[in-house]
Amino acid sequence: MANELNNFSEIIAHCKEYGYIFPSSEIYDGLSAVYDYGQNGAQLKKNIRDYWWRSMTQLHENIVGIDAAIFMHPLTWKASGHVDNFSDPMIDNKDSQKRYRVDHLIETFADEQAATGKSEFAKEIITKMEKFLSKDDFVGLKSLIEENNIKCSISGTCNWTDIRQFNLMFETKLGSISGETDTIYLRPETAQGIFVNFLNVQKTGRMKIPFGIAQTGKAFRNEIVARQFIFRMREFEQMEMQFFVRPGTEMEWYNYWKAERLKWHESLGLPAERLRYHDHVKLAHYANAAVDIEFEFPFGFKELEGIHSRTDFDLKQHQELSKKKLQYFDNELNEDGKPYGNYIPYVVETSVGLDRLFLTVISTAYAEEKWTKEDGSEDSRVVLRIPPKIAPYKLAILPLVKKDGLPEIAKGLMNECKQSFHTFYEEKDSIGKRYRRMDAIGTPFCVTIDHQTKEDNTVTIRYRDTMTQERIALNDVRKLINEKISN
Ligand code: GAP
Repeated sequence: MANELNNFSEIIAHCKEYGYIFPSSEIYDGLSAVYDYGQNGAQLKKNIRDYWWRSMTQLHENIVGIDAAIFMHPLTWKASGHVDNFSDPMIDNKDSQKRYRVDHLIETFADEQAATGKSEFAKEIITKMEKFLSKDDFVGLKSLIEENNIKCSISGTCNWTDIRQFNLMFETKLGSISGETDTIYLRPETAQGIFVNFLNVQKTGRMKIPFGIAQTGKAFRNEIVARQFIFRMREFEQMEMQFFVRPGTEMEWYNYWKAERLKWHESLGLPAERLRYHDHVKLAHYANAAVDIEFEFPFGFKELEGIHSRTDFDLKQHQELSKKKLQYFDNELNEDGKPYGNYIPYVVETSVGLDRLFLTVISTAYAEEKWTKEDGSEDSRVVLRIPPKIAPYKLAILPLVKKDGLPEIAKGLMNECKQSFHTFYEEKDSIGKRYRRMDAIGTPFCVTIDHQTKEDNTVTIRYRDTMTQERIALNDVRKLINEKISN
């Protein structure tokens, strides 16, 4: 009954078959690294987003949420450093013309070595790569590729160009009349919408430091090598929170959020043994400390969330380029009994990709199960063990037959329950087939209305995870499911 880690292609196929994720514009053969969420996927994604939003804004009285626009004044990205620094080192194979992100090329090679039992050698390669990356030593990186004879997967040759930096931001034009156009960018992170609104929120919300501003929304990156399904996309969604603190207290808050965010992932049902921290070797241009929370995806441990101590870098830069003061007056008294006064706050950021989180939930939930029944025959099912609080549908309501007044009772129950949570109504096929379909979608509870219901007002409730069934009063269904899905 164990959940296999190496079942990635089955998970991708399952997501498509059961309305979770489709390739974008599939009828035109799709668009690389862009995906659409189907009817069940969109609901699961919304539930995960709502769970994050609630935990940030409702459960923390000093965090509020905003919804800033995707388009921002182009100077935003100059100030943030994205115009000058938001690039990845790339290398092209001269024979196939295929372009690779250097770290991906080397990591793939190291993974292959580890898979053939050469784990120590693989670790050595990664250590060397991280050392070169931290110093932007492109000559060192290229020799690492050449010395290890790392080949292009298309041409099979080692005929590489020099390593160059490529900016990841998408550009577009504002305005349609020639000569009046202006280059703007699709935001590569949602964080800057928070920084530029820092004073608006602080003043209108009368926020006192420490306080946070949260936001969820789309971000865009022209990833050269987008891969691994929804793990690395060109259009994706982030859930970010900037926590504004008094300078000098940032490490205290950094450690607080580091611990808090790991606990949060566990509260979402992710197993502790598949989560770990990874400290950054090379810090981003804005950070003085950074850690990733990594998850063990079907293709290994990879970044799920980043926690950065961003210093006062962003606010200071925006203050300089916009020529508007972005300071906070702190009237609390310091050790000398004087107010701390005016300063630019320091920031601790938590930033998680919603699509990546979706992938962690689905890959934890997916299980192929086989067992022997009491009569000795074999049985099997594919089940999504999605935690009930975030499952797309909470309850399926299934009349045993399409007659004898059972559909009417079932619809009455549905009309009552849909006021509180998402319900699914199904009257086609055998009850066994309907249960299997609900397992595959991840619906945690099914209620069957049968002839006994007409006699004594009871129904059978069937639990997805244990497949056990019990008889409960029809009138208790809504209350029971509400209890099971509440946090
Ligand atoms: N504001 C900080 C920031 O954007 P990041 O580490 O570049 O930091 C944060 O991104 C998170 O966004 C990542 O941990 C990941 O979950 C998600 N993310 C980044 N690039 C992504 C991509 N191309 N596709 C899907 N998710 C991505």
